[in-house]
Amino acid sequence: MAYAITQTCCNDASCVSVCPVNCIHPTPDEPEFGTTDMLFIDPQTCIDCGACADACPVDAVFPVDRLSGSDSVFTELNRQHFEAHPADNAWAAPRFPRSLPEPVAAPRVAVVGTGPAAGYTVQSLLRSTDAEITLLDRSPVPGGLIRYGVAPDHPSTKRIGDSFAVGYRHPRVRMHLGVEVGRDISHAELAAHHHAVVYAVGAAGSRSLGVPGEELPGSIPATTFVGWCNGRPDIPAGAIDLSAERAVVVGNGNVALDVARMLLTDPDELAKTGIADHALAALRGSKVREVVLLGRRGPEQAAYTRPEFLALRRLRGARIVVDEHGGVAGDIAAAAPGSVAGLLHGLPVEPVDWTFPPAEGKRLVLRFGSAPTEALGDQHVRAVRVGDDVHGTRDIRTGLLVRSIGSRGVPVPGLPFDPDTGVIPNSGGRVERGTYVVGWAKRGATGGIGANRTCAEETVDALLGDAAAGRLPAPARGAKEFARLLRGRTANRAGTPPRSVSA
Ligand SMILES: Cc1cc2nc3c(=O)[nH]c(=O)nc-3n(C[C@H](O)[C@H](O)[C@H](O)COP(=O)(O)OP(=O)(O)OC[C@H]3O[C@@H](n4cnc5c(N)ncnc54)[C@H](O)[C@@H]3O)c2cc1C
Ligand SMILES: NC(=O)c1ccc[n+]([C@@H]2O[C@H](COP(=O)([O-])OP(=O)(O)OC[C@H]3O[C@@H](n4cnc5c(N)ncnc54)[C@H](OP(=O)(O)O)[C@@H]3O)[C@@H](O)[C@H]2O)c1
Ligand code: SF4
Ligand code: SF4
Repeated sequence: MAYAITQTCCNDASCVSVCPVNCIHPTPDEPEFGTTDMLFIDPQTCIDCGACADACPVDAVFPVDRLSGSDSVFTELNRQHFEAHPADNAWAAPRFPRSLPEPVAAPRVAVVGTGPAAGYTVQSLLRSTDAEITLLDRSPVPGGLIRYGVAPDHPSTKRIGDSFAVGYRHPRVRMHLGVEVGRDISHAELAAHHHAVVYAVGAAGSRSLGVPGEELPGSIPATTFVGWCNGRPDIPAGAIDLSAERAVVVGNGNVALDVARMLLTDPDELAKTGIADHALAALRGSKVREVVLLGRRGPEQAAYTRPEFLALRRLRGARIVVDEHGGVAGDIAAAAPGSVAGLLHGLPVEPVDWTFPPAEGKRLVLRFGSAPTEALGDQHVRAVRVGDDVHGTRDIRTGLLVRSIGSRGVPVPGLPFDPDTGVIPNSGGRVERGTYVVGWAKRGATGGIGANRTCAEETVDALLGDAAAGRLPAPARGAKEFARLLRGRTANRAGTPPRSVSA
């Protein structure tokens, strides 16, 4: 018997360092680590010690004999990975924990944000230094997208927030919630009270389709839908209209799959998850019975990851079909097993007549090779016009258009911002003297939770390197003055009162 890694893996590599036989790959030192969907266990080498299962923050690791039904596919996925990438179980050179040389005083660091990038940054700073940390988030609840993005039916993934919360309650951390940098406090003020400021502000904007009608009522960004399912406080309970029979989701990344799954899952199943009450009530009354996922490229270029697509295939009570057009059936038939297009093997591939309302019963339609050219309607979306190389255009009738084409950073007042890439320009996390960036604000809106761990290590390395070299500016004022400033700034502010939390 061996262990195997399953769907919820978020690539944070916590398991790699605890494995006594180095059989979990790719490791962060290996080139495939940057592109892999998940990590895999080599069943030939695993000695079944269970250390990885104990270390995994999202319960992704199980003995293979406990994987049954649709989960048993992960036994195969783990095994197949090592057929394509024979394991090298030799140990890489050890990495010693960073620390500051003796005469360098521990810095006082402000971290803006409480999502995964902030979580890993705080963990790393606490582990490597005696730094005092001020943590700020404009949200009244910590967690960033773990709280308001990760789908409510992914409870194991959300559990990673518990490991960050331990850091946030550390005696050297003081957390201020409901405080927005750029509104309640400026970057210059933060810098004046800390040796270093790390921005972990994510990518709060949505990419734009740039087609006419995109802003019509009935057309929403996917993050609004997922935030609504998660009870995000700034999204009204009545924000989503589910009176259409067909929803069209543009994009086929993992967020698009989350949206499709939430729309098609039996509400009695959703009731067992952490979904917000208002969303559950609305989904119980939902008329949506067909969801169309529009991918602008072919099935081999789909943006979803294999584990998430395999999870979608477990959807009960809904058929999944591929719309046959432009030779997609041939592409799927020719796809290698184990490839992204190969995930579609065995699914019905049939032409869909878009001039009719959706068929009876729940259905997910995957349409490849088409991008929207226009959202049609006067007061509300009534159809999406899609273009494709073969047939010209098609109008797909819908009253709900979900734009799941990715997120984009927004500027923070007082900081540089690259409008083309939507990131805070940086070199390995350094923005300017004493200012750093991490996570989606640093790299763009790509990568799951675990990708932020190595990203945070790079940023903290840069910060500690600067501290050791005496390059951090000395703050003009201290922690007490900062607390006083913040209290004064937020005392009479309208809206949710800020909340300060410390051990
Ligand atoms: C809908 C959705 C679902 C996802 N699901 C998964 C999943 O299941 N598994 C997975 O591995 N990955 C998932 N991801 C990806 C994952 O969420 C990201 O990799 C991760 O959240 C990025 O971390 P971050 O800390 O950079 O940003 P965020 O998580 O967005 O955190 C940014 C934080 O900064 C705060 N902030 C922003 N501006 C300011 C300001 N000016 N002042 C104060 N605070 C501010 C925000 O309130 C927020 O708390 C999902 C992404 C999305 C969009
Ligand atoms: N593990 C998980 O459960 C999980 C869950 C959610 C998110 N995440 C991660 O979070 C990150 C963001 O996910 P995401 O789904 O928001 O983004 P994403 O993976 O970047 O997918 C965006 C999708 O939108 C399409 N697209 C972009 N611009 C478009 C346009 N103008 N017209 C039509 N289509 C367009 C892209 O097509 P092209 O591919 O052709 O560009 C792609 O299909 C990803 O790394 C994802 O893996 C992980
Ligand atoms: S069970 Fe033990 S030997 Fe097997 S992968 Fe996990 S840590 Fe390594
Ligand atoms: S989530 Fe992290 S610890 Fe768990 S299996 Fe994946 S890489 Fe390993």
